[in-house]
Amino acid sequence: MKILVVGAGGQVGEKIAVFAQRSSHYTIGAYKSKKPASGFNEILQLDKTNKSETRSIINKFKPDVVVDTAALHNVDYCETHPE
Ligand SMILES: NC(=O)c1ccc[n+]([C@@H]2O[C@H](COP(=O)([O-])OP(=O)(O)OC[C@H]3O[C@@H](n4cnc5c(N)ncnc54)[C@H](OP(=O)(O)O)[C@@H]3O)[C@@H](O)[C@H]2O)c1
Repeated sequence: MKILVVGAGGQVGEKIAVFAQRSSHYTIGAYKSKKPASGFNEILQLDKTNKSETRSIINKFKPDVVVDTAALHNVDYCETHPE
């Protein structure tokens, strides 16, 4: 399978990279600002809030699965910045 991991430079993304390296799946890691160390077959930059860029990457790579780990998980920050 071809797997696109969004948020590849994050904690969960880096863990997925470890498993990806051990598997036979072709894994593409997409990061916003913190580039993942290694483990992915391909690494690219993506801000998933940019819809046209996201569509273009999906259309280019045609992944079977997209794993989206990208999130703001600081609850206090999210409550004070609901937008
Ligand atoms: N870590 C855990 O143990 C754990 C446990 C349970 C659930 N979760 C959930 O899993 C998710 C990921 O957690 P995490 O610990 O991996 O967080 P993290 O280390 O902060 O990683 C989140 C990643 O999302 C990226 N990101 C944020 N906005 C983005 C955007 N607009 N486009 C593309 N990428 C974007 C960040 O990129 P930049 O830093 O480059 O901006 C960052 O690399 C969260 O929903 C969290 O609540 C985590």
